[in-house]
Amino acid sequence: MAIPESFLDELRARLPLAAVVGRRVQLRRVGRDLKGLCPFHAEKTPSFHVREDKGFYHCFGCGAHGDAIRFVMNTENLGFLDAVEKLASEAGLAVPKPTPEAAAAAARQTTLASVAERAARHFAEALWRREGAAALAYLRGRGLSDDTITTFGLGWSGEGRGALAQALKGDGITEDQLIAVGLMKQDDASRPPVDLFFNRVMFPIHDRRGRVIGFGGRILGDGQPKYLNGPETALFSKRRTLYGLHHARAASSLGKEIIAVEGYMDVIALHQAGFGGAVAPLGTALTEDHLAELWRLSPAPILCFDGDAAGARAALRTAELALPKVGAGRTLRLATLPAGEDPDTLARRGAEPVRAVLGAAQGLADALFEAAAGSRASTPEARAAQRRRLEDLAGLVGDPTLREEYRRHWRDRWFAAGRAAQVQSGSGQRGSGQRGSGQRGYGQGNSGAQRAPRPGLVPERAGAVRERDVLALILSHPSLLPEAEEALANLQFRTAACERLRAALVAQAEQAFGLDSAALIDHLRQMDLREPLDAVLGTRLSALPACTLPGAAPAEAREAFFQALGQLDPGRLAAEIAEARAQLAADFTEANERRLVALVQAQSVIDASAGGGGDDAPHSTRRRVTHT
Ligand code: UTP
Ligand code: MN
Repeated sequence: MAIPESFLDELRARLPLAAVVGRRVQLRRVGRDLKGLCPFHAEKTPSFHVREDKGFYHCFGCGAHGDAIRFVMNTENLGFLDAVEKLASEAGLAVPKPTPEAAAAAARQTTLASVAERAARHFAEALWRREGAAALAYLRGRGLSDDTITTFGLGWSGEGRGALAQALKGDGITEDQLIAVGLMKQDDASRPPVDLFFNRVMFPIHDRRGRVIGFGGRILGDGQPKYLNGPETALFSKRRTLYGLHHARAASSLGKEIIAVEGYMDVIALHQAGFGGAVAPLGTALTEDHLAELWRLSPAPILCFDGDAAGARAALRTAELALPKVGAGRTLRLATLPAGEDPDTLARRGAEPVRAVLGAAQGLADALFEAAAGSRASTPEARAAQRRRLEDLAGLVGDPTLREEYRRHWRDRWFAAGRAAQVQSGSGQRGSGQRGSGQRGYGQGNSGAQRAPRPGLVPERAGAVRERDVLALILSHPSLLPEAEEALANLQFRTAACERLRAALVAQAEQAFGLDSAALIDHLRQMDLREPLDAVLGTRLSALPACTLPGAAPAEAREAFFQALGQLDPGRLAAEIAEARAQLAADFTEANERRLVALVQAQSVIDASAGGGGDDAPHSTRRRVTHT
C-alpha cells in the first residue's frame, strides 16, 4: 500500500498544484496566492485559494483543503491510489509497485533520513562546543552571523578517527548506516570503515522539503581539497540536488528572485544579504534536473557566472541545455560577475553590488548572442562561423515559434552590429558607392527630395515572378547585398528554387562581399546551385525587367529591389523604413540617407499602384507610412 513519500514529493514537484487545479478552475494571481471560484461549492466571488509554494489549496468559503492529489481525488471522484496513478502518468512517472521490497526500501530511506538528521545535529552541536571554536571563528571571520550559521545548520566534523560513529552509537546508529548516508567509507573490506569528513566545517545538504540528505565539508583556511562533497547515496543525488533549495522555496514565495550560483558560501552569503532565493549545484555543472527545479520556482531564474572565459563557457553550456526547454514562462537570465569576484565577496560588501550585478542580468537570447558573436570577428570566414553558430543555437530551441523569434532576434542584432561596424569604418563604402559613376542624384544636395513615383517594377506579375526579380537583382548587383541581406533573411520564398537560392545568398553574404555579378554567380554555381540559378537567370532572361540586368544603374537596382521586396512583404518594407529612419537620425551619413531614400521611393511606388489592387503578397498587412 505504502507509496514512498519521496515519490509523492517528486510527483507534487513535477505537477505543481497550480497546474493541476488550473485545468478545472480559472485562477488569477492575488498577492502570493492564486484565486478562483471554488469547484467544491457554488459561489460567485472567488474564495478558493491556491498557495503554490506550500502546495495546498484552501477554500475560505467551504473549508475544502488539500494538495494536488487530494484535488484530483475530490474533483474526479478517485481513490488515493487511482489519483496518484493518474497524476503520475501525466507527469511521465511510474508509480513504484507497492511490493514488500519497495516497502522495505522506503522504510530504509526513512531510517537513513533520520540518521542523516541525527548526524547533522551532532556536527552542529560540536560547532558551538570548545572543539568547534576554530571552525566557528572561521565562519564568523567570513562574515556569517550566528543566526545565519544556525539557519544553515553549519557544523564541525570533529577530528575523525571514528568519533562520529562512537558518538551516535548510543542512538543505535551503525557504521553501515553512516556509510549509507555518505559519512564513512570502507575502501577495503579487511579494514574498518573510516570517517569521510574530518577537520572540516560541515554543510548539511537538504532536499526541497528541508530534510538532510547529504553533507559537504570545507577545510579551514587553505588546503586541498577545499571542499569535499559526500558521495551519491540512496538519499542524495547530485544531479538533482540544489544547495539551499528549501530556503529558496520559502524566499521565492516572498517574491525573492531565484538565483543560481556556484558554491555553498555564495548561497549562504547571499541569503544573509537578503537574497534568499540563492541555490547552488554541488560541485557539478547545472543539469537539466537542476533547471527543471529552478523553473518550478521562477519563470526566469538568474544564473550567475564568473566574469572569466571559463564562466562564459559555463554560461553557454547551461544555456544550450536550456534552449530545448525554453518557452512561455520558462526562460533564464544570465548575470556576469565582475572579474575576480564571486557572489560571496560581493555580498560581503553589501546588497548594493549584488543588486547591480543581478540588475544587469541579460535575457537568454541576448546573453547567448554575446557569448557566440559578441565580439564581431574581423574576417569573413570567422564571421560566417559566428553566424553558423547562432543558427545552430537557434536550432536548439524546442518551441518552433520561439525558435523563429530567436533567429529573427539574432539576425536583427547581427545586422545592427554590422551596420554599426560599417558606420564606424566610414560611410560611403556601402552598396555601390565605390563605383561612383553609376550613381545618380543621391548625393548630399539631393537629400530626401521626392521624385515622381516611377512606374511599378512589375506590379501585376505573380509573386513567383517577383521572387525571381528580387534574386536576379541581387545576382546582377551583388553590391546591394549588404543592404538587402537583412530583408532577404527575413523573407521566405514560395518557389522552391527561389527559396534555395535566397537561403544560399543569405548564408553566403559575407563571402560574397566584394564579388562582382559574374563572380557571385560563379561562386553559387560551384555550390551545387546550378538548377535554381538557371531557373532564375537562365530561362527567359529577356523577360526580366531591365533594371535587373547587370548593366542597370546601381541606384535604380536598389530602388527596384526594395520595390519588389515591398510587394512581396509590405510589412517588411515598413519595418525597413522605420529602421532606416532611426539609423539616419542617429547617424547622418550618405549611405544611410541613400538607403532611406530608396526605401521610401519604393514605398511610394507601391502605394501609387496599390489603388489598382491585385496585390498577392502573402501576408499583406499594408501599413501606412508617413513620408517625410
Ligand atoms: P570555488 O572554488 O569557487 O569555492 O568552488 P567558493 O565557493 O568560492 O568557496 P570559498 O569561498 O573559497 O569557501 C565553488 C564550488 O565548487 C565545489 C563546491 O561546491 C564549491 O562551493 N568545489 C570546489 C568542490 O566540490 N571541491 C573543491 O575542492 C572546490
Ligand atoms: Mn568564494
